[in-house]
Amino acid sequence: MSGNKSLRLLVLPGDGIGPEVMQQALHVVAWAGEHAAVDFEIREGVVGGAAVDLYGTPILDATIDAARQADAVLFGSVGGPKWEKLDFSLRPEIAILRLRKELSLFANLRPVTVFEPLIDSSTIKPEIIRNLDLVIVRECMGGLYFGEPRGIETMPDGQTRGFNTETYATSEIERVARVAFDLARRRSRKVCSVEKANVTESGLVWRQVITKLHEREFSDVELTHMYADNCAMQLVRRPKQFDVIVTGNIFGDILSDLASMLTGSLGMLPSATIGTSNDGRFSPALYEPIHGSAPDIAGKGIANPMAQILSVAMMLRLSLNLEKEAEMVEQACISALSKGARTADLAHDGEATLTTTQMGDAVLAELHRLIS
Ligand code: IPM
Ligand code: MN
Repeated sequence: MSGNKSLRLLVLPGDGIGPEVMQQALHVVAWAGEHAAVDFEIREGVVGGAAVDLYGTPILDATIDAARQADAVLFGSVGGPKWEKLDFSLRPEIAILRLRKELSLFANLRPVTVFEPLIDSSTIKPEIIRNLDLVIVRECMGGLYFGEPRGIETMPDGQTRGFNTETYATSEIERVARVAFDLARRRSRKVCSVEKANVTESGLVWRQVITKLHEREFSDVELTHMYADNCAMQLVRRPKQFDVIVTGNIFGDILSDLASMLTGSLGMLPSATIGTSNDGRFSPALYEPIHGSAPDIAGKGIANPMAQILSVAMMLRLSLNLEKEAEMVEQACISALSKGARTADLAHDGEATLTTTQMGDAVLAELHRLIS
């Protein structure tokens, strides 16, 4: 027995740019293994469209079981035009939705951090975003994504009608709100809860439940409420007013894509999906970039691996309590960027760009420099 920390890691690269960016992230995993003396026991699985092609299903039950037995799942991205016409039950996206649901991972943490070297890569003026650091806590096991009834039906007049249901019950709201309040206690003690309580019952219940929970257990944290449309506007107008945003599944999905552009690129945002903690340790937990499979650039070797690499940093922090190493990975990304490393998504017209592999190498070089 070595005295090393160990982590059972399931790697699911998925489709599109997933495998390309994952390859770079795995170099960082290897670095952490050596530097922090962690024994990673790595298994790989096929998910998404690739699994549809190989097994006829977006995710095998055996892969869900493997994820349950793992301490952490590192996920790439799934989907693409090839599988868009399939029935919903066969869509690549089912892979990530089932993993979240069946592993009871209800809170998706999406940090939005502006790195100074990228201040000019954002479409928003520097003074609006400088030093921005907020976290979106997105509920991801309920809401519009999973509510019943749902379906497609033919109406008496022959029209086709698609329908979905947004539902949120007390316990679902409380457990994700607790994650947000706990997180806020370790930051600037501010939570903004986002819904559409002015037009939806689910939004109204969301607001009432969070208000009561706040009074009962978290009155040391400042709680504000905001309608989702206003939040979208405020994120662009004055994003630094936010610290922790907590919201439901669909608004969290939309607002996090919007917020990613404050950082310069969708290719920069990592995420962690967690459930209930055991003594402060989340297991299993799932780590994935918020970007999709980007079929338009897949296979070209030009995708930005940073979001996947930064997801590894979140894994080191939340699944292994390796705060120092997590910060080193983040610092290595910032250093590489400050030396001018840019993938195409980050570059201005005419600026030299790096391939996915070169960007991964640039981050690794910084990691090695940090420990030498
Ligand atoms: C995300 C993605 C997923 C979602 C898709 C791939 C199902 O967009 O993680 O934000 O909508 O949750
Ligand atoms: Mn999304």
